[in-house]
Amino acid sequence: MDKKYWTMERLNRLYKDWDPKVLADLKAKIAKSNWRLGYHIQTKTGLLNDPNGFSYFNNQWHLFFQAFPYGGVHGLKSWTHMVSSDLVNWKNINKPMVPDRYYDRHGCYSGSAINVDDKLFLMYTGNVFEDDDEYRRHPYQNGAWMDKDNNIEKLPNPLIDDAPSGITGHFRDPQILKHGDYYYAILGAQNIDNEGEILTYRSKHVDKDWEFYKVMDLGHDNLGYMAECPNLGFVDGKVVLIFCPQGADDTKFSYDNVHPNAYIIADDFDWENMKLINPSSMHLVDEGFDFYATQLFNAPDGRLLESAWIGLPDTEYLSDNEGWEGALTMVRELHIKDDRLIQTPVKENNSLIGAEDIIKNNMQLDKQSLIKFNVEDGKDSEMLIASDDSYLKLSFDKDSHKFKLTRKNIGEDEDSRSVLLGSSRLQDCAIYFDNTVFEIYINDGQRTMTGTFFHDGKHLNLKFNNLDNVSVNKLSNIGINA
Ligand code: FRU
Repeated sequence: MDKKYWTMERLNRLYKDWDPKVLADLKAKIAKSNWRLGYHIQTKTGLLNDPNGFSYFNNQWHLFFQAFPYGGVHGLKSWTHMVSSDLVNWKNINKPMVPDRYYDRHGCYSGSAINVDDKLFLMYTGNVFEDDDEYRRHPYQNGAWMDKDNNIEKLPNPLIDDAPSGITGHFRDPQILKHGDYYYAILGAQNIDNEGEILTYRSKHVDKDWEFYKVMDLGHDNLGYMAECPNLGFVDGKVVLIFCPQGADDTKFSYDNVHPNAYIIADDFDWENMKLINPSSMHLVDEGFDFYATQLFNAPDGRLLESAWIGLPDTEYLSDNEGWEGALTMVRELHIKDDRLIQTPVKENNSLIGAEDIIKNNMQLDKQSLIKFNVEDGKDSEMLIASDDSYLKLSFDKDSHKFKLTRKNIGEDEDSRSVLLGSSRLQDCAIYFDNTVFEIYINDGQRTMTGTFFHDGKHLNLKFNNLDNVSVNKLSNIGINA
């Protein structure tokens, strides 16, 4: 769609005011795409960004995402609601939470969910630009109840009706948690000195009486100018804090994407003082091209789960022209070992794995494939997934121990990301390939590289050199929101 089409009026138009024909036309256009995904959560139409409200309620998994259905741009955001019985086969139940109140007039922004008695409570940010000369961003933190029929009823008034003093209009993305007698909300913020902070609020009653509690003490000060999407998770007797420190000083914390998604491991969390006990250094959650806004969920079955956006803010994607953008990662299970995160796709994803292909160099690769290999000691090696004028190249250098991922999207320049592995042997590598997105798990999930890859859409070939134990399996095309 022509950029000129996206006027402020269209970007902010209420959903009820859109002509339904616009969606029908977009669907027809997207049906012709060669770039759609087989087993990742994608939109029916329009743009997807952050995962929201990841929860287990009424014997189902629930996962929402930030969405703008009317085009591949960041327009007025709503929550699309997906449900699943197995964390793999997700269904859109067509009951989104859309902006329709004064306190979420310019977007139902990110948030989370918690089970309270026999209901699910949602907490989210209502983004509002005030109707004054400065068009000030006024953040509200809002609540809503969802019943067993998945009907969402917003509270009449915001839970928190502005940012606290000393904080700008950038105050959002509450993660709601229960500890002892209190519900806590952990929020991303920017202070008036233009620094990122993580704030905490608390209340004894989930749907009222929220009060500012403390600024979280992370033991780190490189939080850039805004800390988006903070989340705490608890596993293996440790604590992980994941957040997006926009504008973090990259001479102190190295990252190549426009904004990083980072984590810190701690021995414990001091709830009284909102402090990470013995925090580790800061690391990237994922070292690929497109990965952001991770949401954690400590599930009732004891697992720490994660979903993230395969995409980045302030970035355009080739699929925007087709009227869609973005995907969620497969749900991953997290563990902590030696103060590092270990990420693997949840075991339920094995249900996607189909027949093993016969391996030949330069073989044709199915759009949905799982490629595995390792590299025994002392070899330089390479793998190439290529189409006309586009490729994804993985290379491992035995001397520097560098694992390098190079991407050339159709019509664009080459770009690369690297990971230092600290050994001359690549223990294992699994690539979950899904047409135009991929997730790479290195050394049992010690490192991951996730991203998009736009190719000519017709054929893909797989070539490799000096790899050991290569296997390729078909993965099911279950066409979520197809
Ligand atoms: C992160 C983010 C959040 C915000 C949402 C709006 O990608 O900017 O901070 O709530 O997206 O869609």
